[in-house]
Amino acid sequence: MARGLRSWLGGCLLVSALGMVPPPENVRMKSVNFKNVLQWEVPAFPKGNLTFTAQYQSYKKFQDMCTSTVLMECDFSSLSKYGDHTLRVRAEFADEHSDWVNITFCPVDDTMIGPPRMQVEALANSLHMRFLAPKIENEPETWTMRNIYNSWAYNVQYWKNGSDEKWPITCQYDFEVLRDLEPRTTYCVQVQGFLPDRNKTGEWSEPVCEPTTNAETAPSWTVAVVLAASVCVAFLLLGCSALLWCLYKKTKHAFSPGNCLPQHLKEEPTRAAPPRLKSLSSWGKLHEEG
Ligand SMILES: *[C@@H]1O[C@H](CO)[C@@H](O)[C@H](O)[C@H]1NC(C)=O
Ligand SMILES: *[C@@H]1O[C@H](CO)[C@@H](O)[C@H](O)[C@H]1NC(C)=O
Ligand SMILES: *[C@@H]1O[C@H](CO)[C@@H](O)[C@H](O)[C@H]1NC(C)=O
Ligand SMILES: *[C@@H]1O[C@H](CO)[C@@H](O)[C@H](O)[C@H]1NC(C)=O
Repeated sequence: MARGLRSWLGGCLLVSALGMVPPPENVRMKSVNFKNVLQWEVPAFPKGNLTFTAQYQSYKKFQDMCTSTVLMECDFSSLSKYGDHTLRVRAEFADEHSDWVNITFCPVDDTMIGPPRMQVEALANSLHMRFLAPKIENEPETWTMRNIYNSWAYNVQYWKNGSDEKWPITCQYDFEVLRDLEPRTTYCVQVQGFLPDRNKTGEWSEPVCEPTTNAETAPSWTVAVVLAASVCVAFLLLGCSALLWCLYKKTKHAFSPGNCLPQHLKEEPTRAAPPRLKSLSSWGKLHEEG
């Protein structure tokens, strides 16, 4: 009994002397839109501060991703999106280390779909929505989750603000219009990414709320502007025609031969010409004769 206790104590002391380092706890991959972050918790270790090394397997060999870090996470976003990856992490203290904790991770299957962004505009009693698929970590700006998955779609749900009843729709495209809504009512809209072929849904966006206006009519300010413009144009046209009429009348009075020249002046040229010609020809005759 005493001997057993002693050996047990000895074992404890031996383990303690060797400084058996406990492994990191609660190791998990947090991956959203292919931003892959391996996270863990620091185990209780009274002798000092632990550091951690995280690796990934590449062609049978393990490669370091983070070495001797004091952080509780390591970024694996540079991994290929496809295929299964084996990752592992261990705690270290001085020359000693814990066992590895292993996990397997397939980015394209396991990553979560973050919330899409959304623009909502109310026109009369309809809401015009534009969706923007989530951007991908470690890729050019224009790359979105939509480029990775063939069967990308958007799940939309909308409701009247203050109501519990929500209506779902699924949209294939980046634009969608909700028509025939109740006029002058505030509607809220929310969107998530959806992969029909995997039956996988993403995180919901924050709701966006917009009030509708009057049914199928242009907003009242548009009507006012159009009305005012029409009145202006009407007055302008009226003024112009009046002015033109005045000018026309005046011009006619001043220069038109029909109205302004006395009768004798008007008639004179046609009547006076023949005698003049006659007199010229008489002149010519006179010369010939003379
Ligand atoms: C352990 O880390 C803490 C801060 O995280 C620091 O204050 C402390 O000095 C460190 N201890 C040793 C032994 O390095
Ligand atoms: C992790 O994998 C290694 C082989 O890569 C194995 O030796 C070890 O026992 C595994 N650890 C756990 C906790 O499964
Ligand atoms: C939605 O309704 C709540 C009350 O139910 C109100 O406090 C809130 O301002 C409304 N939001 C919008 C955007 O109209
Ligand atoms: C898709 O997943 C939901 C839960 O996320 C489940 O209720 C539904 O039955 C699934 N549909 C199919 C066709 O597997």
